[in-house]
Amino acid sequence: MIYLDNAATSFPKPEAVYDTVYTFMKESCANPGRSSHKMARESAACVMKTRDSLAELFNIKNPLQIAFTPNATYALNMAIQGLLKTGDHVVTTAMEHNSVLRPLYELRRKGLISYTIVKPRTIYGDIDARDILRAVRYNTRLVVVSSSSNVTGTVLPYRELGEYLKKRRIHYLVDASQGAGVLPLDVESMQISMLAFPGHKSLLGPQGTGGLYVADNIKLRSIFQGGTGSRSFETIHPSFMPDMLESGTLNVPGIAGLGAGVDFILKTGIDEIRKKKQLLIDRLHERLSGIKRIKLYSKPENNSSIIALSIEGIDSSEAANILDSKYEIAVRPGFHCAPLAHKELKTESTGLIRISPGYFNTLDEIEYTADSLIEIANRQD
Ligand code: ALA
Repeated sequence: MIYLDNAATSFPKPEAVYDTVYTFMKESCANPGRSSHKMARESAACVMKTRDSLAELFNIKNPLQIAFTPNATYALNMAIQGLLKTGDHVVTTAMEHNSVLRPLYELRRKGLISYTIVKPRTIYGDIDARDILRAVRYNTRLVVVSSSSNVTGTVLPYRELGEYLKKRRIHYLVDASQGAGVLPLDVESMQISMLAFPGHKSLLGPQGTGGLYVADNIKLRSIFQGGTGSRSFETIHPSFMPDMLESGTLNVPGIAGLGAGVDFILKTGIDEIRKKKQLLIDRLHERLSGIKRIKLYSKPENNSSIIALSIEGIDSSEAANILDSKYEIAVRPGFHCAPLAHKELKTESTGLIRISPGYFNTLDEIEYTADSLIEIANRQD
């Protein structure tokens, strides 16, 4: 199988990820932060090691400001629902995933908040930073922007907003679901106040991992309360990080594996990873440009490694089924949990075929995928 669905979950992982999960499960799989025995200490050290690696990757000064979550969706919910209060206004974009949109819809349904959704200017999903800033109002408390679209791969202007928002005392949440591990993300220089990320995509960790960085001047309401191993006699859930957002036993095997994934990225270098992915999407884009019946919705520049396309006369799900069954190529069709993006791109009836190469894909695999897509398109004659 040629796996080109890395925007959903990356595969394969670096060998060290498999080895670390296995060794952790086998040798020191105790509960961190609850007891002081040797195995519990080892487990806690393992969690801390991953926090440290993430802090290095995202230039976070205090690693304890990162909370581990099961995925980016939990992180985004914790940030959005934990921050917003009655009367707040939020600015976001039409390129966001339902993990941003649905919490906002829910809060608005309850009559608590209002929001403005900024539309893209092109069929690739380009968002202009000025449109986001223009949407800010006197009561805007939060701006939520993805680092890049999970439909087209287009990088959003997440690097350009922080300074202005900080001056206006507006909290700035970046959904780094597609960007973490591929795009530069530096919370200090980009003045990002909250960063939500999954562990299982380009950070190369196992599923069931993710996290939320919260700047130390932000106190969120914890949407979950429970055991933290700290202040057990207090009836109120701790308000300090990371306990504020980490109740219950953590997914330590997953976090151990995530640490190995992040260490692989730190060792390889984001630039090198980006260069490799760029080579793959450049070639795929070049091969598919100008092919009859294939319409491209991604441009290779300013892209986090996705080529989205449609084939005239064939539904995206049907095309993906053919790619799977006849050519053994794995891609994601449909709507990618990003309904507004598809509305803006006018692809809400057929969806798009999303091809997302990862660091371990090869140029030969890309050539074969392009040949297969061209063959499918030609069959529509
Ligand atoms: N959010 C993931 C995707 O875009 C699952 O496919």
